[in-house]
Amino acid sequence: MKLENEHAIITEDLVKKYKNVVAVDGISLKVKKGEVFAFLGPNGAGKTTTVEILEGVRTKTSGKAYVLGYDIDKRQDLEQLKKKIGTLPQEFNTHQNLTVRENLKFWSRMYAKNLPIDDLIALVNLEEKAKERYKNLSGGLQRRLGIAIALVNDPELVFLDEPTTGLDPRARRETWAVIEGLKQKGKTVFLTTHYMEEAEVLADTVAIIHKGKIVALGSPAELIDKYGSENKIIVRGSSSKTRDLIHRTLFQLGPMETAEGEVMISTKKAKIAEVIELLEKEKVPYRDIITQRPSLEDVFLNLTGERLLGERGDED
Ligand SMILES: Nc1ncnc2c1ncn2[C@@H]1O[C@H](COP(=O)(O)OP(=O)(O)OP(=O)(O)O)[C@@H](O)[C@H]1O
Ligand SMILES: [Mg+2]
Repeated sequence: MKLENEHAIITEDLVKKYKNVVAVDGISLKVKKGEVFAFLGPNGAGKTTTVEILEGVRTKTSGKAYVLGYDIDKRQDLEQLKKKIGTLPQEFNTHQNLTVRENLKFWSRMYAKNLPIDDLIALVNLEEKAKERYKNLSGGLQRRLGIAIALVNDPELVFLDEPTTGLDPRARRETWAVIEGLKQKGKTVFLTTHYMEEAEVLADTVAIIHKGKIVALGSPAELIDKYGSENKIIVRGSSSKTRDLIHRTLFQLGPMETAEGEVMISTKKAKIAEVIELLEKEKVPYRDIITQRPSLEDVFLNLTGERLLGERGDED
């Protein structure tokens, strides 16, 4: 039986154990309808395992999960659910020798409910490649076709497992625009990524996952506020003499750190306008001023003691 509520996904203490590993170690989360929810974590954190349990692809060891109100433990519920979700698997692949349009037709036939093929092509901006065979598309365009395939049944909820891994920065940004478009259409998007910038740009809510556990949950701004380092204003002088002058001038704003040629102030204590005003007033010959804001990378580092971008490296 379907439960109606404001959440697209609810999990309670979800666990998945393999022989030697606990891949998912007690995950409880709620995803609101219409939001972009990002699972941010490094290799092996348990992202794919969680997503595939929610899609009904893998079975869980224990815990509960309701997706679009359906209980994933119930076979009949799962059958209904599968009609209403779309998935882009991490290792997405499709018929190599079929064109973009032919592939979309092939996948559309799997469902009773369909979006028109032309609408799908337009949604992912593949109009000019509609007659191109899958194998001849760039990695970024292949992934975009994958997103279109995830949408053939006009799903309410879309799972995108690392939609931009391995793409160059431009292709990544183009994919971000497509994902933003899905949100504007009112879809709920559950995204996994190990790119903090992707989570920061796209997500309403981010769950940072590490070794099968959620270590932090909130909007990017909340997480940065709570777990990030402080904002900093860094004023550089051209010599240690000017640095001392900068230090003396700005000292009234509160304690600050000094390093070679520069003075660093936490913005909890000062605003950039005040800093500039003081320096101008005292005619201090500073060379430049930069502000540094903490990121989700910072949050991850502070919470786990590890860097987010690990072994897999980054193509940027
Ligand atoms: N079928 C399986 N059998 C045994 N162990 C598995 C299986 N699938 C996943 N694991 C293990 O579970 C852990 C979580 O894997 P998972 O693929 O969910 O992580 P992930 O966050 O998606 O990682 P990645 O960023 O590399 O995709 C890993 O240690 C992985 O080796
Ligand atoms: Mg994965």
